[in-house]
Amino acid sequence: MDVVDLARTQFAVTGSLHFLFVVLTLGLAPLVAIMHTRYAIGGNPLHERMTRFWGQIYVINYALGIVTGLVMEFQFGLSWSGLSHYAGDVFGAPLAMETLLAFFLESTFLGLWIFGWHRLPRALHVACIWLVTLTAYASALFIMVANSFLQNPAGSAEVGGRLVLRDFGALFTNPTLVFALPHVLSAGLWAGGFVVMGASAYHLFRRTPEREFFIRSLRIGVLTAFVGSLFTVGFGYAQFGPVGSVQPDKFHGAVPGTALGLMITIGQLVQFAVMFVLTPLLIRDVLARSRWLHPLLMVMTPLPFVAAIAGWIVREVGRQPWLVYGKLSVADALTPGLTRADVTASFAGFAGVLGLLALVDYVLIARAVRRGPGRVVLGAADLPVTAEPAPAHAL
Ligand code: HEM
Repeated sequence: MDVVDLARTQFAVTGSLHFLFVVLTLGLAPLVAIMHTRYAIGGNPLHERMTRFWGQIYVINYALGIVTGLVMEFQFGLSWSGLSHYAGDVFGAPLAMETLLAFFLESTFLGLWIFGWHRLPRALHVACIWLVTLTAYASALFIMVANSFLQNPAGSAEVGGRLVLRDFGALFTNPTLVFALPHVLSAGLWAGGFVVMGASAYHLFRRTPEREFFIRSLRIGVLTAFVGSLFTVGFGYAQFGPVGSVQPDKFHGAVPGTALGLMITIGQLVQFAVMFVLTPLLIRDVLARSRWLHPLLMVMTPLPFVAAIAGWIVREVGRQPWLVYGKLSVADALTPGLTRADVTASFAGFAGVLGLLALVDYVLIARAVRRGPGRVVLGAADLPVTAEPAPAHAL
């Protein structure tokens, strides 16, 4: 592998690992916000417990995911300074907006929400989780604006060997953005729904005492996956026209067996399963009682994540050899002077850190799920006091 391919692989691996966190954040945030709103309106303690339980899963994923995002930003400077030099005046703005929204605003509102339990007025507290959702979605918008610009550098012109912004609005009406954004957001809902579904199936299978809690959660998970899958597939097919119009060669050879084939096959099969098997069984109240189905639901949980990574591979590989389509090649975007040894070292470091974070995320989420709603720390009113008074000699 030469240095360009190595740097590309590094970005693909770290980007895919980062996206695993993102897709779950996008799916869980609105679910937690809806649960919290129901609790705030109706005062049902079950809704409060659901908010705290699924909210804790969200917080774990967000806390680890944000670190993976930092690595992504860092790589632009490290490996792709040619991109910053050539297109930074356009590309940098949405990227900065994404960072400001995801990193600063979202974490601020999330912090207020986490520490606001039993402190903030109820309406204000609910507003915080909706603002978390809004900023998460806004940061998805800006990162997709930035990525769509790479797919099709709309709204820009080349002046003095660099791209400058000519039409800000064109960044948002980019044909490679308009259906891709809802495709990604609904893929997030699908993934969030599947995590809630899989975790609930686990508890129902193990016959833990929290039956009512997990029957309701299972219902939310399957219905969310139903809505998410409908829109994901709809907007997935809708992308072919606009994307094909600006990148005519992208989907050539797009048959089952390629990356695109994997995404569509998983997407289509699972969507049919959700629509024509799981949802009817749910409506007839059979799903929660059919214990033999629960392991199947658990095994299905990772599928939207696999499809989402396949989706990104389609989008990015299909743009090669360009980094900014038709304007700047990947080879020209590479930082001058980078050696194979440099990239190998950063690749090993980043992939190691991100892989570890993904593993820790999985372990912590699995542990929180296994412990169940009875041992949730988030929002607990009666947290045990663990800090002992300091001994006199330490003062
Ligand atoms: C029948 C099902 C599906 C179809 C027809 C479809 C279609 C597409 C197409 C054409 C692209 C590439 C767009 C481009 O290159 O600009 C894409 C990308 C993508 N897909 Fe799918 N897809 C399907 C299912 C799924 C599923 C199930 C997921 C995840 C749950 C998913 C997640 C993604 C993601 C994250 C991307 C990259 C961002 C984007 O281009 O929107 N797709 N999809």
